[in-house]
Amino acid sequence: MKQLTELDSWTILEKHAASLRHHTFTDFKKDKLHLNACAISINFNYQLYDQNTIELLIKLANDVQLKNKIHSLISGEIVNKSEQRPALHTALRIIDNSQVIVDGTDIMPDVLATREQMRLISTQIKSGKWLGYSNKPIKDIVNIGIGGSDFGPRFCIEALSKFTDPTLAYHFISDADPDSFDDVLTNLNPETTLFIVSSKSFTTQETHYNTQKAFSWFDKSTKNYKDKHFIAVTANADKAQQMGITHILPIWNWVGGRYSVCSAINLITCIAIGYEAFMTFLAGANQMDKHFYESEFHENMPVMLALTGLWNINFLHISTHLLLVYTKQLEKFVAYVQQLDMESNGKSIDNEGHFINYATGPIVWGGSGNQAQHSYYQLLCQGSHKVAGDFISLKQFDNEIINTMCKAKIKILSEGINPLDKPNGLITGGTPLNHISLESCTPTTLGSLIALYEHKVYVQGVLWNINSFDQPGVESAKAARLVSA
Ligand code: F6P
Repeated sequence: MKQLTELDSWTILEKHAASLRHHTFTDFKKDKLHLNACAISINFNYQLYDQNTIELLIKLANDVQLKNKIHSLISGEIVNKSEQRPALHTALRIIDNSQVIVDGTDIMPDVLATREQMRLISTQIKSGKWLGYSNKPIKDIVNIGIGGSDFGPRFCIEALSKFTDPTLAYHFISDADPDSFDDVLTNLNPETTLFIVSSKSFTTQETHYNTQKAFSWFDKSTKNYKDKHFIAVTANADKAQQMGITHILPIWNWVGGRYSVCSAINLITCIAIGYEAFMTFLAGANQMDKHFYESEFHENMPVMLALTGLWNINFLHISTHLLLVYTKQLEKFVAYVQQLDMESNGKSIDNEGHFINYATGPIVWGGSGNQAQHSYYQLLCQGSHKVAGDFISLKQFDNEIINTMCKAKIKILSEGINPLDKPNGLITGGTPLNHISLESCTPTTLGSLIALYEHKVYVQGVLWNINSFDQPGVESAKAARLVSA
């Protein structure tokens, strides 16, 4: 099999990039690409490429059999080759009667049964029927988990704050420093607090440590406190049972930790926004899945985001990807995508076990766009490092000052400015950006946004011939830590 860089389409792209080397932003024709689907639009007009580039990138995608690889993902083939598993996060949001067969068995009955458990639990808690050991209803929900068992739920709770039940409060404990735990529990009452221990493996050190601390928070003479105050969500039910937890919701080895936001790992959001709204979150992700596997590449938002990213990384040699959000609701999206992208594609060994000779997943960073103006924008305007990125805003704020600021910054960073009276005020521009705009931040659009980035990451993994679903570096580092500890 030919290496990626040996493909004709790759060589042609390299020559094409060289031919565009002296082009500036204004040399590229506008109206290159503007896509809309699932109440999300993406404006690619601030990229440093032309229509020909897009055609060449699509040719590359065809040469690596991307269409087949998308089919492999969705149909449950073993795409996570090193761990010999499918990666079926898309099955978690199927809302029709489709079957998905893994090892000869339809997995959908288990998915639906777990959804039903989520419905019952969320209804009981919201209606005040789930009682603590002293027969008081639950008031505070605490998610204990880290990485993929924390970022997604944490992001959803903040992003959907306008939809959450205000009679309950939602908290997160992830880290092992004592303050992480103490700060959350200081003002809570054990009688009315429910813990969700979210851990796919149930062996993660930080989560185990915090769960033991949560057990100790209850008076040991209290009967049934684990039964009434703890729910585990895990693929390792035995381990949760050994720890004395009786309410256990499953996830499965075909759900990657960083791809688990549509599973019971996100039970806290289901409780907070209610089961019906949680179903619309799943429906939003499902709509994006359909767009992903049904649309032609030219019109396919995850595919075009991935190809554009690849162009910037491999042909313009820009290794950082900046995410700037112009809505408070999406601030935690940056941390979420950091894990999703960097744990999936931060790799330099290909699917055949060879070291690769091209750049892969970018360094993802960012935060609140407008706060950045008063913090690190200086580097974006005039620094010596190249940056590409996504600006994300809400259409519902199009008449608000925040979106005016977002558009102004995109214009400055892409077009540049040359103040004749102030030579050191020169901003050269040429920062390749996507402007991603959600109609508004609802459970549905949030589901679509998450699926958009999940699929972008998968497509890039396919193009780079790496496995986006394992994390062997993290595992090695963990093993080394244990040996040296
Ligand atoms: O150590 C990294 C990691 O394995 C992530 O991939 C994962 O999301 C996180 O730890 C938490 O893992 P778990 O859900 O098994 O506790």
